[in-house]
Amino acid sequence: MQARSSTLEQATDLDLVPQKGFTIWLTGLSGTGKTTTAVLLEKKLRAQRVCVEVLDGDAIRDVISRNLGFSKAGRDENVYRLAFIANLLSRNGVAVIVAAISPYRAARETARTIIGDFIEVHLRCSLNVLVQRDPKGLYRRALTGELSHFTGVSDPYEQPLHPEIELNSDMESPEEGVERIWSALVSCGWVPRD
Ligand SMILES: Nc1ncnc2c1ncn2[C@@H]1O[C@H](COP(=O)(O)OP(=O)(O)O)[C@@H](O)[C@H]1O
Ligand SMILES: [Mg+2]
Repeated sequence: MQARSSTLEQATDLDLVPQKGFTIWLTGLSGTGKTTTAVLLEKKLRAQRVCVEVLDGDAIRDVISRNLGFSKAGRDENVYRLAFIANLLSRNGVAVIVAAISPYRAARETARTIIGDFIEVHLRCSLNVLVQRDPKGLYRRALTGELSHFTGVSDPYEQPLHPEIELNSDMESPEEGVERIWSALVSCGWVPRD
C-alpha cells in the first residue's frame, strides 16, 4: 500500500487542512468601531479560506450572558465566558474575533492567559466623535442620566497599557484598521501575506 501524502498541496476535500487558531480581541468604548472592524476582518479572513467566528459582545449578552448585568462582576464574568468560548475555538484551529467593550484590564489579561495566541486591539476615538456618531442614541441617553453605568460616561474604561495594536477610529478608516491587524497576523505567521 502506498504511503498517504501529508503535504498541503495534495490535500483533498477529505483531508483536514491544519489551520492556526488565534483570537483577535477588539476592546473599546461603544461606537468606536469594534463590530464594523470585526465584520470587515471576518470577510477578509473568509476570502483567504480561514475558518473564522465572530463573538460579538452584544450578541453574547442576548444569549449566554443574558442573566448578567453591568456591574464590574457582571462585566468580568461576560469577558470570562467570551474567553472560554474563544479558547475552545482557537485551540481547534479557528480564527476568533471578539468584539466587546471589555472595560477592565485584569479581565482582559485573564482572557489573554486563557487563550494564549491573542492579539489585543484597542479601538480609540474621542468622546466628541462618539457623541456625534451615536448610532443607537446611547450616548445621548447616558449624558442625560437616563442610562446609568454607561462605559466612558458613567462607568470606567481601563485603557490597555500595552495592546498589540491601537486603532484611532476617528482618524483611520475601517479598511486601514483591518490592514494593520492583517500585518500583525502576517508577522505572527498566522495568515498568508496577500
Ligand atoms: N475607522 C473606523 N473603524 C470602525 N468604525 C468606524 C470607523 N470610522 C467610522 N466608523 C463608524 O463608527 C460606527 C461604529 O459602530 P460599531 O462598529 O457598531 O461600534 P461598536 O461595535 O464599537 O459599538 C459605525 O457607524 C462605523 O461606520
Ligand atoms: Mg458592537
